Amino acid sequence: MTKRTEQALPVKKNDILTLRAEDLTREGAGVCRVDGYTVFVEGLLAGESARVRIVQTRKQYGFGKVLEIVSPSADRVEPDCPYYPRCGGCTLRHLSYEKQLETKAREVWQILGRIGGIRLPEPPPVIGMSEEERICYRNKTQYPVQNVDGELTYGFYARRSHRLIPVEQCRIDSEEASRILPLIADFCRQHGISAYEEESGKGMLRHILIRTGDPGEILVCLVVNGNGIPDEPEMWQMLEQAGVKSFSINRNTERTNVILGRKTRIAGGREYIYASIGEMRYRISAGSFFQVNPAGVRKLYDKVLEYAQLSGKEVVWDAYCGIGTISLFLARKARQVYGAEIFPAAVEDARANAKDNGTDNVEFFLGKAEEILPELARDPKYKPDVIVVDPPRAGCELPLLETVAALRPSRFIYVSCDPGTLARDLKYLTEQGMQVEKIYCVDMFCFTGGIETVVSLRS
Ligand SMILES: C[S@@+](CC[C@H](N)C(=O)[O-])C[C@H]1O[C@@H](n2cnc3c(N)ncnc32)[C@H](O)[C@@H]1O
Repeated sequence: MTKRTEQALPVKKNDILTLRAEDLTREGAGVCRVDGYTVFVEGLLAGESARVRIVQTRKQYGFGKVLEIVSPSADRVEPDCPYYPRCGGCTLRHLSYEKQLETKAREVWQILGRIGGIRLPEPPPVIGMSEEERICYRNKTQYPVQNVDGELTYGFYARRSHRLIPVEQCRIDSEEASRILPLIADFCRQHGISAYEEESGKGMLRHILIRTGDPGEILVCLVVNGNGIPDEPEMWQMLEQAGVKSFSINRNTERTNVILGRKTRIAGGREYIYASIGEMRYRISAGSFFQVNPAGVRKLYDKVLEYAQLSGKEVVWDAYCGIGTISLFLARKARQVYGAEIFPAAVEDARANAKDNGTDNVEFFLGKAEEILPELARDPKYKPDVIVVDPPRAGCELPLLETVAALRPSRFIYVSCDPGTLARDLKYLTEQGMQVEKIYCVDMFCFTGGIETVVSLRS
């Protein structure tokens, strides 16, 4: 696209135009063009026309707001949530589920082509969620807390802002969370526990994290601007009566958007809760990573297992292993599995999980995967036949990819929640001569833009 100066843009702020969306992003913005200039219009579906006010212009693209939809799409559905679209949690609740899947898979396909140079003939297939699985599917949510009308209130941020939308019952969060949250808020109001204020850095309670696992397994972690809250023992008593198994306080005194601080201490009950995937039971501490959708994660791991093609003779590395979920899943079919993980509590969880599940062919290492794997893989004992990576959004560090390319494992499986960094990393690996063999998307986050992608490469 040719670069334009601000003055030469075909639209300007406050213009009112009738636009038609050619495409839809998975974050719920219709993609419109005016003389080759892209205008993203939130809430407009592909194929729809609307009267739109231009609200912002940048050199490469601008943003518009729907004033009136002129021709609605047949794929538009009535959102079944009273907070939508004010609450920024969901972005696609006004689109039929089948089209949500299509939209996500198409965007993954476009990004892999544009950033990664991976030209697939068509969008990857996608495994979706059944109608039943789409309700209250999240097992973990972090609710921000603010003062609203002088009262401590929890909810979700409005899209692209830190303005709190009070939410009493979220349609995708667990029913247990909706039951426990008002108890915590009432306790705080009665015991003088104030809400944290971002502007001043004053106030106590920043976020309420609730995680659920197997029936009756509930973990509450309060993110606090300080070492603790008043009347913690009473709070634990109240939570225990409500069925909570683990209560912890996370200290976060930084002026930052990062939710969790570095220190978490137990204020009541166990350090962890239990959650099962299939016949495996895992313990999960407050700060450890665990996929948020238990039904979806089974489908994801089944795909990883299928792509790994294990015969029982292989040495497998699970880099970024978290609490060892993928490691233990694969260990049943492999000779030996090694995991690397940076978060100490997750490694403790992983070791306990191996023991509790009677798995003795796994070993977990604490540290950076990009340091551990290159170091150990020099020893033939640790040389991998199969490597699985499931990194955070930022993707893999270059030294890890260099090691993968140098080791040439017979199978390399990349699990990603971020198509952009996945595409960047695949570009590097394919430039080193590796080939993308198979690719699948798994939807674990319906109504939102989130999508998991599993890619198998061979050397
Ligand atoms: C997306 S999670 C995947 C966890 C696990 N595979 C699962 O499915 O539950 C990414 C994990 O990588 C860990 N991590 C982040 N950076 C890391 C690094 N440089 N080396 C090793 N682990 C890292 C995080 O703590 C987190 O547990």
